[in-house]
Amino acid sequence: MKLMLNMTINNEKISVEIEPDSRLLDVLRDDLGLLGTKEGCGVGECGACTVIIDGKTANSCVTLAASMEGCDIKTIEYLSKNGKLHPMQKSFIDNSALQCGFCTPGFVLSGVNLLERNPNPTEEEIKEGISGNICRCTGYEQIVKAVEDVRDEKYIKDGACDE
Ligand code: FES
Ligand code: FES
Repeated sequence: MKLMLNMTINNEKISVEIEPDSRLLDVLRDDLGLLGTKEGCGVGECGACTVIIDGKTANSCVTLAASMEGCDIKTIEYLSKNGKLHPMQKSFIDNSALQCGFCTPGFVLSGVNLLERNPNPTEEEIKEGISGNICRCTGYEQIVKAVEDVRDEKYIKDGACDE
C-alpha cells in the first residue's frame, strides 16, 4: 500500500505517493527528478546524498521518506536561481575544489549550511562542518579554501555575485 507524503522541497509544497519503505534519496531522484543528490555509499558514510532538512544537513540515503511529512527540504537544485550560480558553487569552481564532481553537491550544501549557522567559522570549524562529506578525488585543501572565500565575502566584494 502506498502512502501520500506532503513536504516542502526547495520552497515548493509537494505531495507524492511513496512506498512505506522508500528512502528520501529515492523519492528525490526517482519520483521528483532531482538528480543533483547523489548516491555514493548508500549507508550514511560519504555525504554524497546530503540534503538540508529543517535547517540541518542529513544523509538522504538513510532517511526514511515516510518520516518527512511536513518537513522543509532543500537540495542542491535550490541554490542556483535563474541560471545564476550560488556564491558557494562559484567558489568551488574558481578554487578548483572538484574533479569528478560526484561529491560536490554534498560539500556545497554542507558549506552553505555551515555559513548559515555560523557566518564566521574558523578553518577548524569549516573542517568540522564538512567532516560528514568524503571526496575521493581532490585533496580537501581547495574545498576548505572555497568555503573560506565565501565566508570572507570575496564574491560580494569582487562583485562576482550580486545576490
Ligand atoms: S550515499 Fe548517503 S552517505 Fe553515502
Ligand atoms: S571530486 Fe570526485 S569524489 Fe570529490
